[in-house]
Amino acid sequence: MAEFSALKSAIDRPICLVGMMGSGKSLVGRRLAKLLDLSLIDTDSEVERTAGIRISEIFEIAGEAKFRLMERQAITDALGKGQAVLSTGGGAICTPETAELLIQETYVIWLRAAPETLLKRIGSVASRPLLHTEDPLQTLRDLEKAREADYSRAHITVKTDRLSGQAAALAVLQSLDSYLTVT
Ligand code: S3P
Repeated sequence: MAEFSALKSAIDRPICLVGMMGSGKSLVGRRLAKLLDLSLIDTDSEVERTAGIRISEIFEIAGEAKFRLMERQAITDALGKGQAVLSTGGGAICTPETAELLIQETYVIWLRAAPETLLKRIGSVASRPLLHTEDPLQTLRDLEKAREADYSRAHITVKTDRLSGQAAALAVLQSLDSYLTVT
């Protein structure tokens, strides 16, 4: 969009959205990509495309550690494609090597939301293997606590609880603009 062209030319790395499942990474990613006229790379979808099976099946057949390797490869491939908006899976930045890659080579945006908001947005947990537990809300609370230090390495944090996808995308752009002005 023309009104963001000055900001777009100042953005010299891919923009990477991180945060818990349900934080809005895919939706906000789509809106951001549209506003900046960039392509969106959803690394979960890339892993599924390469593997030819769903993420829940990868967890089942090969385990989480194998998934994390495939996720890192998908991110490395995405970074090779130049300027883009990346939407990553919720645990990507919690693997140290992947975190280094993202922090060094992209602008990392943490989309933050309360566990209650996350669960409401997720709806069915069928496609989220980590939430196949007795109490998904408690699992989200525990996961968020365990991951907070990883997420807070992001360059920018945007709270999305009360925001639509479009409003969150605009909030990301505003924060990015301020970040690039002061750094
Ligand atoms: C995961 C989040 C999922 C997916 C996988 C693991 C996580 O992606 O990568 O199920 O560790 O939080 P979304 O955050 O897009 O749901």
